[in-house]
Amino acid sequence: MSIPNEIKTIGIVGAGQMGNGIAHVCAVAGYDVLLNDQDPTRIDAALGIIERNMARQAAKGALADRDMKDALGRIAKAPRLADFAACDLAIESAAEDESVKRKIFADLNGIMRTEAMLATNTSSISITRLAAATERPDRFIGLHFMNPAPLMKLVELIRGLATSQETYETALRFVESLGKTAANAEDFPAFIVNRVLIPMINEAVYTLYEGVGSVEAIDKAMRLGANHPMGPLELADFIGLDTCLAIMQVLNEGLADTKYRPCPLLVKYVEAGWLGKKSQRGFYDYRGDKPMPTR
Ligand SMILES: NC(=O)c1ccc[n+]([C@@H]2O[C@H](COP(=O)([O-])OP(=O)(O)OC[C@H]3O[C@@H](n4cnc5c(N)ncnc54)[C@H](O)[C@@H]3O)[C@@H](O)[C@H]2O)c1
Repeated sequence: MSIPNEIKTIGIVGAGQMGNGIAHVCAVAGYDVLLNDQDPTRIDAALGIIERNMARQAAKGALADRDMKDALGRIAKAPRLADFAACDLAIESAAEDESVKRKIFADLNGIMRTEAMLATNTSSISITRLAAATERPDRFIGLHFMNPAPLMKLVELIRGLATSQETYETALRFVESLGKTAANAEDFPAFIVNRVLIPMINEAVYTLYEGVGSVEAIDKAMRLGANHPMGPLELADFIGLDTCLAIMQVLNEGLADTKYRPCPLLVKYVEAGWLGKKSQRGFYDYRGDKPMPTR
């Protein structure tokens, strides 16, 4: 079974911070987008965020007003996954939880045409295992966008064991059509970017946990001392502490090396529901005029 020559309509599952960014990028590149979330209020919120982000690009001259209007007109709400029946490609960007993703893919497999392609934006979970939840593992691939998707240039491309060459080439053309650059990664826990980045963040949380430095000192040290544009705790809040923890757990379980043990303080923040910017509180409190450290 060959995949469609041309991708026209893309269904996106999960309208959170990554889903809205991916929808934005796809619509600007000329694709029709259907946006789904289990929580309909998240779809409405995402549409508002996309409009504001596009308006910011337009104000900077990075997007013509006319192109912004056209792009917004290409994004439609899809409250039910069944709305994806005519999509050529689905990109799943729901929570970083294997059982949630497997269920979504099993459902998409039954809904979408047999030739349609399936992709996941997972940060860490095995592409081969997620593909096995479908009857089309050859048309399944990892497309790992970076946050914020409209600004970041890289997309990691990850083939599962059964991903066909045709699927890989179609995905590569698709990434390039978005104006992004692809980097190939093999299907190992957390691929390349997060295999390096998230243990560094986890180590920064240990540094805080052990009292080596305060939140502000750790972030300042890494900004000015390692020339990172953001400190690791600020970055953790930006990614989402639940996502950071989920990735550490995948590394810990998948590589069975104690160096990947999630820091207990990271676990505690997630248990408290302090998930970072998206919940207004993480290592910083975002509810006031300026972010204040929470420790
Ligand atoms: N945050 C990052 O920096 C980043 C970067 C790259 C990839 N990712 C990956 O992208 C995915 C989404 O992360 P995010 O940061 O956007 O999280 P988020 O919490 O902002 O959004 C997740 C969304 O998925 C929805 N959802 C959960 N279960 C669902 C289901 N069964 N069906 C439909 N919608 C469902 C939630 O309602 C929520 O709106 C994760 O797999 C994450 O690992 C995150």
